[in-house]
Amino acid sequence: MELPRFSLAGKVALITGGSRGIGEATAVLFAQAGADVAVTSRKLPDLERVADLVRAEGRRAIAIEAHAGRMDGLQGIVDRTVEELGGLDVLVNNAGTSNYAPSMEMEERAWDAVMNLDLKGLFFLSQAAGRHMRDHGGGTIVNISSVDGVRPARTTPHYSIAKAGLIMATKCQAVEWAEHNIRVNCIAPGSIETRLYNANFALLPEEDRAAAKDASSRRVPQSRIGDPHEIADAALYFASDASSYVTGQTLVVDGGRLLV
Ligand SMILES: NC(=O)c1ccc[n+]([C@@H]2O[C@H](COP(=O)([O-])OP(=O)(O)OC[C@H]3O[C@@H](n4cnc5c(N)ncnc54)[C@H](OP(=O)(O)O)[C@@H]3O)[C@@H](O)[C@H]2O)c1
Repeated sequence: MELPRFSLAGKVALITGGSRGIGEATAVLFAQAGADVAVTSRKLPDLERVADLVRAEGRRAIAIEAHAGRMDGLQGIVDRTVEELGGLDVLVNNAGTSNYAPSMEMEERAWDAVMNLDLKGLFFLSQAAGRHMRDHGGGTIVNISSVDGVRPARTTPHYSIAKAGLIMATKCQAVEWAEHNIRVNCIAPGSIETRLYNANFALLPEEDRAAAKDASSRRVPQSRIGDPHEIADAALYFASDASSYVTGQTLVVDGGRLLV
């Protein structure tokens, strides 16, 4: 069955944090939808593995090693994508990090590491991509926030603040860039089975981790942790024409967790 409104045929997508987890699932799904894909993160071998998965879907792929929290490298990510894949139509701002730092113990270093990657880098990568899209007929940007950007997380305030800022950055850029045919939307995932999610349990003794994870999934009305492909599906909606009259929005994908 062909669903042309969900197609990315002929498009070029750039996915940050594309080496595993949600970024990997999004890269593969976008390739299945017809896009050529650039993936970026800090480790080339991991990126090459995902690039091979994209190529196995019959699409072109490039792997770009870069730190998405360092402003001086961001323009280069966009430039390489455009030079090697011939354009840039879709940006998925997915790279993100967090670290345990309750407000009473927060150090500036921890604050900066999270803010630079999860908010500042993302804003300026969108700017670099947005300038290209403006000059080439438009595009779509999908930001990956978190339910923690809607409801405060207890021991990671910098992460919550950055993710909340991202929801507002989505709205600001959506309003400013609509005239350039650029739509900007956001996804707020709940608990998704990835390395980042499992890091939440890393401070616990090993024998307690499975029980803590189980308790966490029982707090979700759907009684389970999500899979990365369930975020990728939402990203495809926002990236494609299926959402052509939607901009500035945040879609919560959390199995109902924020409702209770
Ligand atoms: N999993 C969840 O439960 C959940 C919930 C809500 C929101 N999210 C959000 O979803 C996004 C993806 O996370 P995930 O769960 O898929 O985590 P993940 O599996 O740990 O993947 C994170 C990705 O980001 C990359 N990355 C990390 N630091 C980077 C940096 N400084 N520069 C460039 N790339 C960097 C990682 O590659 P390298 O480390 O090799 O650079 C990796 O590709 C994040 O924004 C996260 O906040 C996740």
